[in-house]
Amino acid sequence: MRVLFATSEVFPLIKTGGLADVSGSLPSALQHLGVDIRILVPGYTAVLNALTDLHHLAHLAHLPVIGHAELLLGTIQETQVKVIVIKAAGIYERAGGPYADANGLEWLDNPVRFGVLSKVAAILGGPNSPLTDWHPNIVHCNDWQTGLTPAYMKLVEHAQAKSVISLHNMAFQGCYAPSWLPTLGLPSTHFNPEGLEYHGQLSFLKAGIFYADSITTVSPSYAKEIQTPAFGFGLEGLLSKRGNELKGILNGIETKEWNPKTDPHLVKNYSATQLAGKKQVKAALQERLGLEINADAPLLGVVSRLTHQKGLDMLAPIVPQLLDAGCQLALLGGGESELENAFRHLARNHLGRVSVNIGYNEPLSHQIMAGSDMFIMPSRFEPCGLNQLYGLAYGTPPVVNATGGLADSVIDTNIITYKNKTANGFVMSEPSSASLLHCIKQALNVFKNDADAWRQIQKNGMSQNLSWDKSALEYLAEYQKLLA
Ligand code: ADP
Ligand code: GLC
Repeated sequence: MRVLFATSEVFPLIKTGGLADVSGSLPSALQHLGVDIRILVPGYTAVLNALTDLHHLAHLAHLPVIGHAELLLGTIQETQVKVIVIKAAGIYERAGGPYADANGLEWLDNPVRFGVLSKVAAILGGPNSPLTDWHPNIVHCNDWQTGLTPAYMKLVEHAQAKSVISLHNMAFQGCYAPSWLPTLGLPSTHFNPEGLEYHGQLSFLKAGIFYADSITTVSPSYAKEIQTPAFGFGLEGLLSKRGNELKGILNGIETKEWNPKTDPHLVKNYSATQLAGKKQVKAALQERLGLEINADAPLLGVVSRLTHQKGLDMLAPIVPQLLDAGCQLALLGGGESELENAFRHLARNHLGRVSVNIGYNEPLSHQIMAGSDMFIMPSRFEPCGLNQLYGLAYGTPPVVNATGGLADSVIDTNIITYKNKTANGFVMSEPSSASLLHCIKQALNVFKNDADAWRQIQKNGMSQNLSWDKSALEYLAEYQKLLA
């Protein structure tokens, strides 16, 4: 089994969110199962700097817009997974993020940047590959950034490899003017609703869903949700048409990276059987963030993109009531400026009780996950969500809305789930501020009044197997089905 895993971000080389975590950890889990896997990623400056063993692999010609590119081969040291890097300085080597510049403005040449990524993946899966000794039989694509790959494979490259597309978020689709078709070397004969077109535009994501041999998404609940208008972002019709080929597989976590027993970012490591260390981590976090050092004050943690999806606009208005109930808040995130400002304002007005860090900070994200008493994640939709899984692993029970992967991983605490030891968090009844407040208050009730019960809920989450063990096998079965 040889798999090319094409992605626009991969931890620890380049990361904006959960896609990077999955792209770092799933290939590694598959490699442990004996799959010969290589990751394909654009040669952003950060990627070229992070891989120290890069060497020439091949030259590619006839690429859209840029003509030529070089392929380099390197290894991610942490996992020993091989990475093929597309070296194309003109489109990838620049300051800023993978999708946008430092001010958050999308790169205007994103259709080229990700058109080229898609095209290279398709070439490597087909008869025109310049690689003589490695031909994948599966090309595994992720999100709109590699959405054109299955289309190139079928319509242009006549590739022998099978294609899989994993949907990590239907909210981002990569829709561009139809004039991009000839530029990207796609046949205009397929620009219609039964093909590449989505309401007059070229849609990278639709192309992927339409032409892929198999479609997966990152939780069973999200697989159902995206076949409905409320969650499908306009592609629910196509998704339900292809419902038989659509499978939801819950993400796992990289237990080497996210493990309170070994996490190097913490002042003290701890585990389900030695929870005392978590108190020291909390005190260190309170100190670092300028919060009052108080073991009894329930500390609510948030690490998140600040966007409509994540529902944190439901949290901001109830912060004063939560502070009245004795809570502290530690938030790390970035995104929509209105939300950033609302939280900055709360921090200014409640010094010592509310800490807000706007920006991206990997060590602090681990410290908040470990040092908080509960993790707040009221997402309106959540394909899988990794942070609630990290919360479970760190004895930080998540408070979540019942959607997508949150619904599939967090089990609400009630008399039945408490008794059968499955309760691992708290689940809102609907996405609203009132419901979030009610849910946090229920959690506070246990936290403040029943230490044994709280410890049990923590332990239930911490003793779950959240690794890729099971889900990686499901991907392997999916590949095997395609090749059978
Ligand atoms: P999404 O991919 O939708 O943003 P996930 O929960 O799947 O949500 O994954 C988010 C990942 O990004 C997690 O690893 C989380 O810790 C990380 N993350 C999000 N915001 C920040 C931030 N401001 N600083 C550090 N890490 C962050
Ligand atoms: C997306 C989703 C998130 C998921 C991640 C990895 O960013 O928003 O829910 O966990 O992809 O699959």
